[in-house]
Amino acid sequence: MRVALLGCGNVGSALAELLTAHGDEIAARTGTRLELVGIAVLDLAKDRGPGVPAGLLTADAKALVERPDVDVVVELVGGIDPARTLVETALRAGRPVVTANKALLAEAGAELAALAAEHGVDLLYEAAVAGAIPVIRPLRESLAGERVLRVMGIVNGTTNYILTRMTEDGSDYEEVLAEAQELGLAERDPSADVSGDDAAAKAAILAGLAFGSEILGADVFREGITGVRAVDVAYASRLGYVVKLLAVAELVDGGPDISVRVHPAMVPRSHPLASVRGAFNAVFVEGAAAGELMLYGRGAGGAPTASAVLGDLIDAARNLRAGASAPPPRRHPAVVRPMEDLRSAFYLSMDVADRPGVLAAVAAVFGRHQVSIRAMEQVGLGDEARLVFLTHAAREGDVRATLDELRRLEAVDRVGGVLRVIEPEVGDAGVGAAAPAVGG
Ligand SMILES: NC(=O)c1ccc[n+]([C@@H]2O[C@H](COP(=O)([O-])OP(=O)(O)OC[C@H]3O[C@@H](n4cnc5c(N)ncnc54)[C@H](OP(=O)(O)O)[C@@H]3O)[C@@H](O)[C@H]2O)c1
Repeated sequence: MRVALLGCGNVGSALAELLTAHGDEIAARTGTRLELVGIAVLDLAKDRGPGVPAGLLTADAKALVERPDVDVVVELVGGIDPARTLVETALRAGRPVVTANKALLAEAGAELAALAAEHGVDLLYEAAVAGAIPVIRPLRESLAGERVLRVMGIVNGTTNYILTRMTEDGSDYEEVLAEAQELGLAERDPSADVSGDDAAAKAAILAGLAFGSEILGADVFREGITGVRAVDVAYASRLGYVVKLLAVAELVDGGPDISVRVHPAMVPRSHPLASVRGAFNAVFVEGAAAGELMLYGRGAGGAPTASAVLGDLIDAARNLRAGASAPPPRRHPAVVRPMEDLRSAFYLSMDVADRPGVLAAVAAVFGRHQVSIRAMEQVGLGDEARLVFLTHAAREGDVRATLDELRRLEAVDRVGGVLRVIEPEVGDAGVGAAAPAVGG
């Protein structure tokens, strides 16, 4: 199988190295010989190291995709343009495409999947979500017959590293971010990670696979980690929770409506996702018959991501030879419920004047908006008091109205942390039982 590689950066160069240095071994192991016939890049003068055959480099990606002797195209350029045009050109020419491009899939995944189906070829993207971890194939194939109820993942290594350090060392967000940038664990411009945008693109892809609906990245509610404070992480810890940035796609009230969202959440320490530390990723799936399963591993990095691309490449080559293609995505006429309509338990902390009557006034605001308090703690801070509340499951719109009114209350100096809480199900030992109490 003759492979055209578009892009030779972190992932592309690792793939080129795997194909050239281990080509014989891969052929012996899989029965598929993959021959790299061209590598498209932007800058031909850049030093690529000894693992990349310099003679294969070209600056004309379009011509490489259109070469008649190319069987399979691997897109590792990233971004929307020209990646989208290159992928479409390959699919229209009847060439399977393997990509790791989450941004492109979150914007045009459904259209590209339709184009691939029209031309009877594969569009495979295992590496686009959670790097080396097999997530896409299990959802698409192993769980093809399963009624998936919920997919909940830690799919961004940078933010998980930051939150882990905040939990374990008590450090502040800014301090850990600066350190992560020094160590190369966060980009110089970390905005796509810390804003939740990167995780939202992956949430859209996961939702599409789990529920077959045509979810775009723009449909995903997102809240990043920039507002998470060390003090709230410490409170969460004392209460038996760990703060994680979660990507969630789930059926609401048993479906067909779904919820797709990214936000920090307090996860019970007993939940498998709570033990995912540092830059690691994990995806936790709940199915009606299969129950709970978790996939865990390295979510990024050149070599881990190239390994996932290689797996897809071997699949695409086998399918091409057999005249087959991977099963199409599920169909599910889903409506994405607005965030305001979902129900969840909340953690809320606020600083108030420490004088008689204030607690009653604050509690009255909760009551007016049908937000029921499950637990409360008061800590004295001189003239002020910090109030920390855990609520029962409440409608998000009602919680927002409560917060708006509290902010206007003269005795409330500031509303601090606001975190959604994943609660262990009643009657269960806790492990794997966490369920955001989402429903109409
Ligand atoms: N890095 C990871 O850990 C990771 C993990 C999961 C998924 N991904 C995804 O994998 C893809 C590649 O990521 P990466 O980190 O390898 O990116 P990268 O290091 O920025 O590499 C991009 C490559 O594309 C080339 N390129 C850019 N524009 C081009 C054009 N118009 N024509 C031909 N080549 C062009 C660049 O050429 P030059 O080298 O000449 O500049 C470079 O070789 C992205 O979609 C990313 O989201 C990455």
